[in-house]
Amino acid sequence: MKILLLGNIGQLGWELDRALQPLGEVASLDYPEIDMANPDSIRKTVRDHHPAVIVNATAYTAVDKAESEPGLAEAINATGPGILAEEAKALNAFLIHFSTDYVFDGKKGSPYSESDTPNPVNVYGKTKLAGEQAIQSVSGAYLILRTAWVYSLRRESFVTKVLKWAREKETLRIVDDQISNPTWARMLAEATCQMLARGTGYLAEKKGLYHLAGGGYASRLEWAKEIIALDPKKSEQIVRRVNAAKTADFPTPAIRPLFSALDCGKYTSEFSFSVPHWRITMPFALKA
Ligand SMILES: NC(=O)c1ccc[n+]([C@@H]2O[C@H](COP(=O)([O-])OP(=O)(O)OC[C@H]3O[C@@H](n4cnc5c(N)ncnc54)[C@H](OP(=O)(O)O)[C@@H]3O)[C@@H](O)[C@H]2O)c1
Repeated sequence: MKILLLGNIGQLGWELDRALQPLGEVASLDYPEIDMANPDSIRKTVRDHHPAVIVNATAYTAVDKAESEPGLAEAINATGPGILAEEAKALNAFLIHFSTDYVFDGKKGSPYSESDTPNPVNVYGKTKLAGEQAIQSVSGAYLILRTAWVYSLRRESFVTKVLKWAREKETLRIVDDQISNPTWARMLAEATCQMLARGTGYLAEKKGLYHLAGGGYASRLEWAKEIIALDPKKSEQIVRRVNAAKTADFPTPAIRPLFSALDCGKYTSEFSFSVPHWRITMPFALKA
């Protein structure tokens, strides 16, 4: 099986690059070898590689910066994935794409399922939703996996930031009103590959939109406390107190949905897999 992986330098893409290897012949590219903001680059890359499966881990993920670069975010997160879907369909290739909990406004107060109506509150969320819709409207063979709060130690993430702050400050103030699913990039990559291992014919029957993220959910404060507790180099920490704060205490260019946790029940029932609780994967992630 020829697999084209886009975005292999990113948090998720790096883990996918590793996890996809046993499944076939993997060609891995990231910017600038492919530019998801450039339709010609997308078309040429797909036609040159002629894959059976395309896994798109590229995205414009700078949530705050997207507010001042909406055109670029739209090109990478919405227009580009639509073109990718057209090219995949023309080759009869299967497309796996990732989206976000930020398509929701966070006002529901309980985990979101796929049947809940999106209502993004920032540019990033709007462009990611437009990307989902662009792929769906092409009507090829696809999986869109909405995930949340992706982290790894390889690139800057909430986990690497908390580990850094814990070495710099005695008192941390972390918001307790943003709630979602901490999702280890490796868990997400491996779960994706387990689906793909069942074959593209099987996946074509299951095509559609699924929520796939760490099990359970947490506030940023709960998550930060767990990161600090599990830090493998705790002796380097100077942090003494972790206090609760509110999102409103830290104004940012982009509004965040407050409760954007995802309900992964459709994925677990359709594929008969489980999603490990975020607390179960954290110790492995911090030692990876
Ligand atoms: N991170 C999260 O908390 C989170 C939450 C929910 C959903 N997601 C979704 O999960 C997926 C993976 O996220 P991630 O955290 O792994 O993202 P990431 O670490 O930011 O990786 C994204 C990759 O896309 C590349 N990229 C950016 N612009 C590009 C362009 N014009 N052409 C080609 N590649 C380009 C980036 O390259 P550069 O680094 O050079 O820009 C990077 O390698 C995305 O679909 C994201 O929307 C992420």
